[in-house]
Amino acid sequence: MAALSPFVNEPILELRRAPIREALAAGMEAVDARLPIRVPVWIGEDRREGEDVVSTDPGNRERVVAVAASATADEVDAAVRTAAGAFAEWSALPAARRAERLVAAAGWLRERRAELAALEVRECAKPWGEADADVCEAIDFLEFYARGAVALEEGKPLFQVPGERNVLHYAPRGVVAVVSPWNFPIAIPMGMVAAGLATGNAVVLKPAEQSPACGLAVVRALREAGVPSGAIALLPGEGETGAALVRHPEVATIAFTGSGPVGLEILKTAAEPGARQLKRVVAEMGGKNCVLVDADADLDDAVPAIVESAFIYAGQKCSAASRVLVHEAIHDALVERLAGAVEVLVVGQADTFGIDVPPVIERDAQECVERYRALAREQGRIAAQGDGGEPDHGWFVAPTVAVDLPPESPVLSEEIFGPLLAVERVRSIDAAMDRVDELSFALTGGLFARNPHTVERVVRRSPVGNLYVNRAITGAMVGRQPFGGNRLSGTGTKAGGPDYLLHFVEPRVVTENTLRHGLVI
Ligand SMILES: NC(=O)c1ccc[n+]([C@@H]2O[C@H](COP(=O)([O-])OP(=O)(O)OC[C@H]3O[C@@H](n4cnc5c(N)ncnc54)[C@H](O)[C@@H]3O)[C@@H](O)[C@H]2O)c1
Repeated sequence: MAALSPFVNEPILELRRAPIREALAAGMEAVDARLPIRVPVWIGEDRREGEDVVSTDPGNRERVVAVAASATADEVDAAVRTAAGAFAEWSALPAARRAERLVAAAGWLRERRAELAALEVRECAKPWGEADADVCEAIDFLEFYARGAVALEEGKPLFQVPGERNVLHYAPRGVVAVVSPWNFPIAIPMGMVAAGLATGNAVVLKPAEQSPACGLAVVRALREAGVPSGAIALLPGEGETGAALVRHPEVATIAFTGSGPVGLEILKTAAEPGARQLKRVVAEMGGKNCVLVDADADLDDAVPAIVESAFIYAGQKCSAASRVLVHEAIHDALVERLAGAVEVLVVGQADTFGIDVPPVIERDAQECVERYRALAREQGRIAAQGDGGEPDHGWFVAPTVAVDLPPESPVLSEEIFGPLLAVERVRSIDAAMDRVDELSFALTGGLFARNPHTVERVVRRSPVGNLYVNRAITGAMVGRQPFGGNRLSGTGTKAGGPDYLLHFVEPRVVTENTLRHGLVI
């Protein structure tokens, strides 16, 4: 195989162009013609269909997007054993050969971009721009980790002395269990799966119950690109399927992205006796992402960036802003301008070009955000509320800005994962940093300030995994903004960064005495 060209991010589509919109609309027609998609438990060459898990369009409860089988405990066991069996052959391939398959899978996604974006629009109510960006990110993960694994295979140089050879190399760990969320329904599972496969592990994927059809697309892309069927299995199902998978004694590595409580449960399970090796856990979890706005901030920059960070995809990005801490000198001006911007947000169906806020993923999510909205109204004040969407059809929640909350309000400290933004007044940026420091989450954060000394001070104190200065706080790009949280937001593994693959391998050092006495015949 020719050497891989240097990594570049996949360019997103320009949705303002009519031909691009037409291509996406054609993709949607093709997807709609195939609904409902049947998602099997897919282990090696065995496929079993079923109707245990049903995903529906969050904007139209009547539209069934996928019906999936739910993997049983026996099937979880079979999937892990099949993966363990396929591991020897897959791991024996040079990294460059594995990279060929991953790059081919990226090509598979590229050829089907419109249909895959349309599938995300239907299954997860991702607006077009977000859905396209998710497919691009999946492509990026494949291309980035393929190259990273080839580089990692070289090992690292060690100090050498005469008569001794020291070699450090990285070996795959075995079976990787991947458990993924629905909010980046192709990119996140593909990222974790691609990292495992690129480094020579065999992988079993448990996609989110809200997005099984997107999970199927991930596995199809890899298999049709030449990854052996034994090396990548699909186990649709609910939380119990994920729990059974991570508990399996043959699993060596668990790559999880999802909520904090589930991540903590998985970390505990990983330490249960009976496993053949210490299970390594890569966990990316929730956040309470704060944007700080200093008195000298440029509100022309801050307001649109905060609105984008808080309300795009209805606040359901793990990186979304949910709390703004603003200097008291400009608090009222900021709230007034945010209110004006929020009231004109276009709330609507994800398949309509140009909407700002789609419905949230499901009834539970809608009820959860409504509970926090009621609490915000009771404990503080609603400063702005946008349009309520189409409540008769989908799980819409009006985008909302809450103010004047008491410091102990759960609205200020708990992850809500919906279009509700809390704004609070602070005496200074240092006081704001004290409040950020009180949080147990540390995923993303933002700062708007013109004074470089303020920027420097916040950078020094900020605990978050990804801090954005004078810009929106969502939209991390593979290779440019390695992504992941600290504290209870994650194990600090940084997806899309230079160190990520190290979590899927174990280092081995070989020391050889190179002096030979006599001749070996
Ligand atoms: N830090 C990040 O990079 C990142 C990225 C995306 C989402 N998230 C977080 O994910 C959450 C939203 O996603 P979600 O609602 O799908 O999360 P979730 O934790 O409810 O589910 C995630 C996955 O875990 C599975 N699961 C549930 N219970 C399990 C158990 N006991 N054992 C094993 N697996 C189990 C689910 O079936 C699903 O596949 C938010 O908290 C968000 O912040 C974080």
